[in-house]
This record gives sequence, structure tokens and C-alpha cells, in this order.
Amino acid sequence: MEKRHDFLIIGSGIAGLTFALKAAERGSVALVTKRNISESATYYAQGGIASVLSAEDTFDAHIKDTLYAGAGLCDGDIVEMVVRDGPARIQELIHLGVKFSSRRENGAELDLGREGGHSKRRIVHAEDLTGKAVEEALVAAVKAHPRISVFENHIAVDLILHSKFVSDSGDDAVWGAYVLDKNTGEVVTFLSRATALATGGAGKVYLYTSNPDIATGDGMAMGYRAGAVIANMEFIQFHPTCLYHSKAKSFLISEAVRGEGGVLLLKDGTPFMKNHHQMADLAPRDIVARAIDYELKKSGDDCVYLDISFKPAEFVRGRFPNIHKKCLEFGYDMTKEPLPVVPAAHYTCGGLKTDSRGTTNIKRLYAIGETACTGLHGANRLASNSLLEALVFADRASSHAIEMLKSDRADVPAIPEWQTGGAVVSDEAVVITQNWDEIRRFMWNYVGIVRSERRLERAERRIELLKNEINQYYWDFTITNNLVELRNIATVAELIIKSARMRKESRGLHYNIDFPERDDRFLEDTLIKG
Ligand code: FAD
Ligand code: SIN
Repeated sequence: MEKRHDFLIIGSGIAGLTFALKAAERGSVALVTKRNISESATYYAQGGIASVLSAEDTFDAHIKDTLYAGAGLCDGDIVEMVVRDGPARIQELIHLGVKFSSRRENGAELDLGREGGHSKRRIVHAEDLTGKAVEEALVAAVKAHPRISVFENHIAVDLILHSKFVSDSGDDAVWGAYVLDKNTGEVVTFLSRATALATGGAGKVYLYTSNPDIATGDGMAMGYRAGAVIANMEFIQFHPTCLYHSKAKSFLISEAVRGEGGVLLLKDGTPFMKNHHQMADLAPRDIVARAIDYELKKSGDDCVYLDISFKPAEFVRGRFPNIHKKCLEFGYDMTKEPLPVVPAAHYTCGGLKTDSRGTTNIKRLYAIGETACTGLHGANRLASNSLLEALVFADRASSHAIEMLKSDRADVPAIPEWQTGGAVVSDEAVVITQNWDEIRRFMWNYVGIVRSERRLERAERRIELLKNEINQYYWDFTITNNLVELRNIATVAELIIKSARMRKESRGLHYNIDFPERDDRFLEDTLIKG
């Protein structure tokens, strides 16, 4: 089956939905998403969106904080552009109906929170459910738009590259994607004149992650297979505070808890962050996560503790209603006791390298949101800069794509349907679960918060073996959602390991005990071309 639209958008988080709404003003849009439309990292975002919105704050201060966190690798022009664009993008969300928390009844003065690495209060939030408020407003607008067709339970498998599937004429443009309709098992050919990857991050590459199950780095892997340039994959951000509980599946305890005065404690009640950084509990995330890792290795304990119980219970319940409720379900009352916490993989700073308009090195292909590497985050993302980046780049990329389609009337060439070859239905799906578990475990143990040359070499050997096995399986058996995701996490794991092996220094989120210092010979992006 074949479907034709002007724009194909893969992913329905903040980046994909925003791009879809803007592109639909000028053409037909297919929005493809692999689960239900709301399932995304965006939906679970807690802390909020960083932007300069108070008289006490300045663009310069936000720029400086972002550059400091990024440890020398941010692109200064991009940082400035994103920070300055922020207030306008927040206004658009307010117009769309997002109800951010405010200090006055009529919503006149936004309540601004604080998080690690920020020198000012500048986090716009909707209590501690910011992502849900944003996602719901965007989804409602997308569903109401007559030019947007939404395809839920559709997982994109591969980009359609003219030079690969049609001829070697030198036309290396992307003309859409092959997409598995999970409802029918059929692979549908989605054709488009502009394609945007908005598939989010890759936290599921690690055993412990704050990310939802959709975060398997599909966009990065698809882009890489199509020949895109991938940047800075070694910079994986570990969030310092996920709830430590066997059933909590790494439930996030927002950094905003520390922003409101929460303190990290050892088991015996000793605060320890002041021994690691002058900003103590509000130091940038890489420093806090590494400090926890250090303290846990030293003490042999399973977790540290996050305490905000000294604040009035009414304040804690009002500011963090969702976190409070969820923790109660797991048996912890944060108004009365410290919460057990551990770090978990949270954010992929690297991704498909783009310019300031979200374009990649491949014609007609855009990358936006967490799947992209725009130059904003450098070696470490500042808290709450991710939703901001997605908004700014979805806006810029959609206007670039609209202009591109206006000036270029080329039509989609004839594209062959998906070929199944000799693939048969698998009778040993256990191979998939076994490989998933293996990759996620060795990535956690060998390519985690603290790395070494020996561990990285081990990881490299493991991924080489698994990759061959998975590829063989991929060609032999009919594709399923799990197989597509497994193939992608294997590719992303390989990219992370390769990138980490290339950076022989420690910077930002990449810490290697064999090269513990910064070395400015490596003051450049790590680039791998597919
Ligand atoms: P996502 O929101 O992850 O959306 C990706 C979409 O792509 C999903 O719809 C998914 O189903 C779809 N998809 C993926 N692969 C395919 C495929 N092959 N085919 C079809 N569809 C596909 N950032 C902040 O700035 N502030 C915060 O407060 C904050 N809190 C966070 C809390 C948590 C628990 C987590 C996990 C992250 C948080 N982040 C926060 C990070 C931020 O939420 C994400 O970086 C951001 O939401 C990414 O948006 P996105 O649109 O790029 O991707
Ligand atoms: C949080 O609420 O701590 C998450 C913020 C972020 O990831 O930016």
C-alpha cells in the first residue's frame, strides 16, 4: 500500500506535533507514531521549560548557564538563537491553551521554578506534570486539524532513499519512509516531499532509564543507515534522582525538588553535594550523577536519599502533586521522609547533526527534538532546555520545509514497495529478548556514568558480535515492532561506544577514568557518517 502527503513526520512528542501543526498550514501532513499518539518522553516531562520570562533574569544569564553546562562544546550562535526565541515559543503554547502554573489566580504571572545549573528561576511549569499539559494541548490541536492524518501504532522501519531503492542516479534525497502498520502487519510506503524525524531519544539502550519504552533511538538509527552524519553520541545524560524501588521502573523525581531546596543525603543523613561542587545540590546534572556514583561505590550502599520533608507538607503536596502521589503508591511519603534515589539514563545529547534550521546532510530530511544534535547542549544539557530546543527547532524546520516545497516543485519519483524477500515468521522470538537484555546490561555496566578504556573495548567486542547476529535475524524473519527496535538499539549502542572510544578525555557527560581531565585537542564534535 502507498500513501502520499506533502510532509511526513515520524513521532508525536513535542517536536513532531509542533512541526505538524505548522507544516499543515501549507500542505498535507502524515503524522506516524509507533504507539498511541500521546506516548512520548514529552508526556512524562516534569520540571518544565527553561525560558527568560522574569525581570530579574536576562538572556545573557541563560546563555551563560547553558554554555557552562555544555563544557565548551555548545555552538554559541545556536545557544543564543534558542534562548532568544524561547519567550515567543512559550507564548504560542499559552495561546494553544497550555495552563502553566502561575502565582496569581488569573494566570497573569507565571510561577518560575529553578533547577540544577540555572542561576535564576526560569522554569515554566504546569505543577510537576508539564509534559502532560503540553502534549495534551498539542494533541488536541493536531487531531482537530483537517490537513493532518494521524497514523497510530505505525512504526517507521527505514527511510526511503532514492539512491538506495530506485537507482544510483545520484539523487540522494529522502522521499518518505517504509512504515510497519502494527495493526495489520503490512509495511506501508509513506511518500512525502519533506520528512521530519522527531523520534526522541535512546534511553532504552541502558538497563536503568527514566525514559518510556518508545525511546529506542529509531530516528538516529534510521538516519545513520541512510547516510546521515551523527554527532556526539558519547554524551548520555544520567538523571541523578530516579526513585529506587524494584517496581518503580525508574520513576523520575524532578530536579525541581532540589530547586525548591531538596537536599541529597547519605544513608546516615549526611549531606554530601557541597563536597563535590560549589553549587552543591544545584550543580549541573553530570556532576551530581557522578557524585552519587562516587558515594555509592565508596559506601557500597544501593541508593542515596533526597530530602524535602523539612518544608511545609502543604507546600510539597501543592508543588509536586504527581510525584507525591506516585511515591505514596510505592510506600514513601515525601512530606515526612527522605526518598531513596539513584541515577538513570535520561537524555541523549547526541543525534542527527543539523544546522540552525533542523536540516540534515541528506536532502529533504529534517531532524528535530531529542533525536537531533543541534549544537545547543554541547557535552551536557542544562535542565529543561530540551523541550525548549524541540519547540524552537520544530518552528524553524517547519518554516524551512515550507519554503523548500514552495521553491522546488519536484514530485516524488516512483518508489518500489517493501520487499519481504524470503523472510518467514520467527519461531524463536527469545533471541530478541535475550539480545535486548544483553545490550542494555553491558551498556549500563561498561558505557555508563564512569567509563574506562578496558570497559569500552569489552563493550565494542560485545556489540560487534550481537550486531551480526541481529542483522542475520533481521533478514531471515518477518519484521515486528520488537525486531525493528532491537536492530535500532544495537545500532545506537554501537554509535555510543564508537563515539566514546574516539574521545580520549573527560568532558561534560563523558567521564573516562583513563583520561580524567579535559584535553582541548578534543574540543570538537564527535562525528560519524552513516
Ligand atoms: P518524544 O517526546 O520522546 O517523542 C518521540 C515520538 O516518536 C513518540 O511519539 C514515539 O512513539 C515516536 N517514535 C519513535 N520511534 C518511532 C518510529 N520508529 N516510528 C514511529 N514513531 C516513532 N526535558 C525538559 O526540557 N524539561 C523537563 O522537565 C523534562 N522532564 C523529563 C522527564 C522525563 C521522565 C523524561 C523521560 C524526559 C524529560 N525531559 C525533560 C526530556 C524531554 O522530555 C525530551 O527530551 C523531549 O520530550 C523529547 O521530545 P521529542 O518530541 O523529541 O521526543
Ligand atoms: C526534571 O524534572 O528533573 C527533568 C528536567 C529535564 O530533564 O530537563
